[in-house]
Amino acid sequence: MRILVIGTGAREHALVKALAADPEVEAVIAAPGNPGIAAAALCEPLAGGVDDGAAVVELAQRHAVDLVVVGPEAPLVAGVADAVRAAGIACYGPSAEAARLEGSKSFAKEVMAAAEVPTGLGHVCTTIEEVADALDALGAPHVVKEDGLAAGKGVVVTDDREAALEHARACLAKEGGRVVVEEFLDGPEVSLFCICDGESVVPLTPAQDFKRVGEDDTGPNTGGMGAYSPLDWAPAALVEEVVARVAQPTVDEMARRGTPFVGTLFIGLALTSRGPRVIEFNARFGDPETQVVLARLETPLGQLLALAAEGRLAQAPALRWSPRHAVTVVVASHNYPGTPRTGDPIEGLDAAAADGTAYVLHAGTRLDEGALVSAGGRVLSVVALGDTLAEARERAYAAVDQISLEGSHHRRDIALKAERGEVSVPSR
Ligand code: AMP
Ligand code: GLY
Repeated sequence: MRILVIGTGAREHALVKALAADPEVEAVIAAPGNPGIAAAALCEPLAGGVDDGAAVVELAQRHAVDLVVVGPEAPLVAGVADAVRAAGIACYGPSAEAARLEGSKSFAKEVMAAAEVPTGLGHVCTTIEEVADALDALGAPHVVKEDGLAAGKGVVVTDDREAALEHARACLAKEGGRVVVEEFLDGPEVSLFCICDGESVVPLTPAQDFKRVGEDDTGPNTGGMGAYSPLDWAPAALVEEVVARVAQPTVDEMARRGTPFVGTLFIGLALTSRGPRVIEFNARFGDPETQVVLARLETPLGQLLALAAEGRLAQAPALRWSPRHAVTVVVASHNYPGTPRTGDPIEGLDAAAADGTAYVLHAGTRLDEGALVSAGGRVLSVVALGDTLAEARERAYAAVDQISLEGSHHRRDIALKAERGEVSVPSR
């Protein structure tokens, strides 16, 4: 099998690494990829960017690939998966219509209501007066979400009514601006990825992400600063419950609407005292959670995604998972999640991976006259496995400490509360 992976981040690096390790996969091509991915796959440029469906089809045909795997949300929402399928090539990733589960928070809420999926109360607002009424009806803490794609940065959670209104005003000022004002959901967050073929659902193992830029979950939201898996503190029946109450009803509702969901249904959950509630849907693998989930997946990934793309997921074998613990720590550039400084030299990657207990996945990197430099907000994702969470953390941070990147920052507390046994679900 020959596979083309679309995207440039550490998530795509993790996907390429796992696909290349599948004995049935003979070649992996990545577009545009990055210097880290280039070690495991042939990287091809995409001059028009990852949203250019015609260029993706041309690449897929030129390399005679059997399967295209689309990493990020923007090309999915732009219809790249539709273009690939229209050319008769199997694609792992939802159609533009189905990707609206991520692309529009109000659409996601509508589908959740129709499928009776447990989620927070939400009000879709188009005027500031509606927002003010919704804030008062739901009370603090206030949650205000921009309706469209915002790279994880469109959500403000605050006790400050003025700040909530200000964010809503900024979102409403955009063309077609709409916001969702939502009930605050208390409890630890979990990310669960479900592989879907339009009909069947195969859940992966849950992971936890760290969204805020600062330690102790302070500061603004980011794309994600680190992750770990497994979640020893989570209820044993969690995955089964979420498949039964969330994933399968959502996939069934999308099929009923004539827009079947093929790809990764990423369910962001809060485990509240009243049970799991959906915080958000995404239509793709999460970054950085994918880095730890795939680090533990022992079943060949290429065959699994091919079965999903072909509508034959019911034939997939039961997934096998390593019992080991995986931790990833994101190294971010100066000023991220604000406008990141780029072009800084990156050193120490060989030393970071030298003892074989950790590896470095590339996100925002590029080569500048042969030297590796930063090229984005999240630059690297350092992954380690260990027999215990403590060991995995220790190995990940030992590797991070070998890396030098001027002005960079990372959180030192990824998975720390879990290691200390301080994460728990509020009692019912
Ligand atoms: P989203 O883009 O919807 O995933 O939101 C980003 C982050 O904002 C989530 O990971 C949560 O940490 C937080 N968040 C979103 N919605 C809520 C909610 N209803 N209650 C509490 N926190 C939320
Ligand atoms: N880590 C969360 C996301 O990928 O949106």
